[in-house]
Amino acid sequence: MANVVLIGTQWGDEGKGKIVDLLTEWANVVVRFQGGNNAGHTLVIEGRRYALHLIPSGIMRPGKVCVIGSGVVVDLKILLDEIRLLKEESGREIISQLILSDEAHLILESHRRLDQARERQRGEAKIGTTGRGIGPAYESKMARWGLRLGDLLAPEAELHQRLATLLEQHNLLLEKIYREEPVSLVAVFRELKEAAALLKPAIRKVPYEMARCLDSGEAILFEGAQGTLLDIDHGTYPFVTSSSTLAANACASAGIGVRHIDEVVGVIKAYTTRVGSGPFPVELEDETGDQLRDKGGEFGTTTGRPRRCGWLDLVALRYAIMLNGLDSFALTKLDVLSGLKKIKVCEAYRLNGRIIDYFPSSITELERCEPVLTEYPGWDEDITAVLEYDRLPENARAYIAALEQKLGIPAMLVSVGPDRAQTILRHNPFAA
Ligand code: GDP
Ligand code: IMO
Ligand code: MG
Repeated sequence: MANVVLIGTQWGDEGKGKIVDLLTEWANVVVRFQGGNNAGHTLVIEGRRYALHLIPSGIMRPGKVCVIGSGVVVDLKILLDEIRLLKEESGREIISQLILSDEAHLILESHRRLDQARERQRGEAKIGTTGRGIGPAYESKMARWGLRLGDLLAPEAELHQRLATLLEQHNLLLEKIYREEPVSLVAVFRELKEAAALLKPAIRKVPYEMARCLDSGEAILFEGAQGTLLDIDHGTYPFVTSSSTLAANACASAGIGVRHIDEVVGVIKAYTTRVGSGPFPVELEDETGDQLRDKGGEFGTTTGRPRRCGWLDLVALRYAIMLNGLDSFALTKLDVLSGLKKIKVCEAYRLNGRIIDYFPSSITELERCEPVLTEYPGWDEDITAVLEYDRLPENARAYIAALEQKLGIPAMLVSVGPDRAQTILRHNPFAA
């Protein structure tokens, strides 16, 4: 059986959730490996919409095991709310499908408050974070005083001591630097204990669980969150998230060797979007940008913010293919392009009068890059009911073929609407 990593190739919201839900039909196990509830992954199944933030997008399929790896940061309140909501919606006891890494770090009230306080202090220069405490939680992890899910299983006095040490630091910052109210140790400790009672049975040593799955030949799907250009190392730093969003991190987070991965799939939205601040060379601040936002429903799943919209950027995509070692791509939201007379694609950047084909590391350079655009003829037909590749309009097929040729990897599927069923699957990585 195959093991597949699926990641976002752009600035997030490429449609990863939909594709993970679809591919889970052939997988036994789905693993979230980084990020936290900054993610918003939307599934539409038989017309019903589900928005997931923390639990892997394979959860709607009964019997599939959903794992939260060590590289994820977990807000217990959000996790418990999500478990409750999914139980109400599906009628199933979701917790029995979950395995939570004892090594995953916790997002506490103080992390959320620090995230928001720092953004306020940055003013105009803000990153535009989701305000969910993601950055501060990873800071605590790297500073080596973070609390982990496994700590919930420790003797109460030990957990209390560790929490008190961390909150002492955080409250100093909140009160003395940001002039804010401190966070209550008593209240946070109570929340942790309540969560521990509910989650205890799901907290495990994930590398051993994964080894068991690998030994018994179960098919594993790794679900990326955010996108390649939001990666902490290779993204548009500092306008990035605080985790490694790349395919390579799937193995590190789950605790498996890299040789177990059979295929790496990148999700490419047929145009580009970005939420929050930071350079975006292909951005359209005009009617076409508004049209893409309206037709594509480009408003954040997590924060409701309008997403910035632009054309497809081949410079950025080639960079993503290189960073992740992509074998193929899933093309989403092709239906949103229907009705456009011309579809533009950025082939290269113009920087200081020179044509460049690389993605600059410096945001000062990237901000100065102008896109060199090529035009493709559009199509008028509504394609949301097309389920066979050959039935797509000729110009849509030509657009896909041009992308495959310019990117050097094949489109393994084409998504023509938000519903699970609105998909043209051309190659199934699990059937290889
Ligand atoms: P993710 O974060 O990568 O999982 O993506 P989001 O769920 O945040 O955003 C993608 C949005 O596009 C969601 O509202 C999906 O329901 C929707 N979507 C996914 N694929 C398609 C598609 O092919 N066509 C259309 N029109 N919408 C899609
Ligand atoms: P999914 O998984 C789009 C962006 C935020 C901000 C930056 C840092 O749904 O694709 P953070 O809260 O992570 O510190 O914010 O990253 N961001 C996302 N943008 N989709 C996401 O997730 C995102 N997660 C974070 O908007 O610019
Ligand atoms: Mg999203």
